[in-house]
Amino acid sequence: MKKYFGSNLKMYKTVAETVDYLEELSSQMADLPRDEFEIFIIPSYTSMDRVSHDENIRDILLGAQNMCWEAEGPFTGEISPKMLKELNLDMVMIGHSERRHVFGESDEEENRKVLAGLAWGFTVLLCIGETAEEKAAGQSKEVLCRQLREGFKGVQPEQIGKIWVAYEPVWSIGESGTPASPEYAEEMHKEIKTCLFELFGEAGAAIPTLYGGSVNPGNAKALFARPSVDGLFVGRSAWQAKAFRELVRIALSDGERVDS
Ligand code: PGA
Repeated sequence: MKKYFGSNLKMYKTVAETVDYLEELSSQMADLPRDEFEIFIIPSYTSMDRVSHDENIRDILLGAQNMCWEAEGPFTGEISPKMLKELNLDMVMIGHSERRHVFGESDEEENRKVLAGLAWGFTVLLCIGETAEEKAAGQSKEVLCRQLREGFKGVQPEQIGKIWVAYEPVWSIGESGTPASPEYAEEMHKEIKTCLFELFGEAGAAIPTLYGGSVNPGNAKALFARPSVDGLFVGRSAWQAKAFRELVRIALSDGERVDS
């Protein structure tokens, strides 16, 4: 299966900073074995029009951090799939931990967004993950399966190829987060793959599942080496082009996969 490395820029970087970052990232990544992996970056809405038409930004998929489920209407402050389509974007991220836990989005809302994203032809990256409390209560697997089941309700067989999943435990994200151990990440990824198989059959097994949450140059290789981890979704450690290139290089180095 193809591998994936991506970053969500969250509410960081101005338009000019995003352009500089993406142009540099394009040249930084050029000498890595690009047929083995995809790079995707999810910048701010304000920079998208500019970066999606920049000829110096190559071989990088671009996505939106969120999206309304309606094409247009009285939804003040929202951005619609129709508007994102105009910008030539490849993908849309739905249900990032901060959308769920800072802005209170529910599984039902994520589902409406997933269906809208697919209907408008985007690749949809659904983020899922348990909180520290849910983990402590032994509910991690149940929570992940619920988020997948609810989030993908109504997805049609022909749309499965446009779905990606990012497993990002809430307790692992950001400055105060602790990265998941490679063993724990593998166990959860296996569970995710089992749930996807239950939902979609064989086609579900081909859905890329990425790990995110405090990925850094020190743990990237061990996490990426796990057989059920198809890629890394990186925040802070990817926001300098050179550092992100180095992280990808480290993850790909040697290429040996660890049996779980
Ligand atoms: P982090 O962010 O790598 O900075 O922990 C991950 C994320 O929010 O996707």
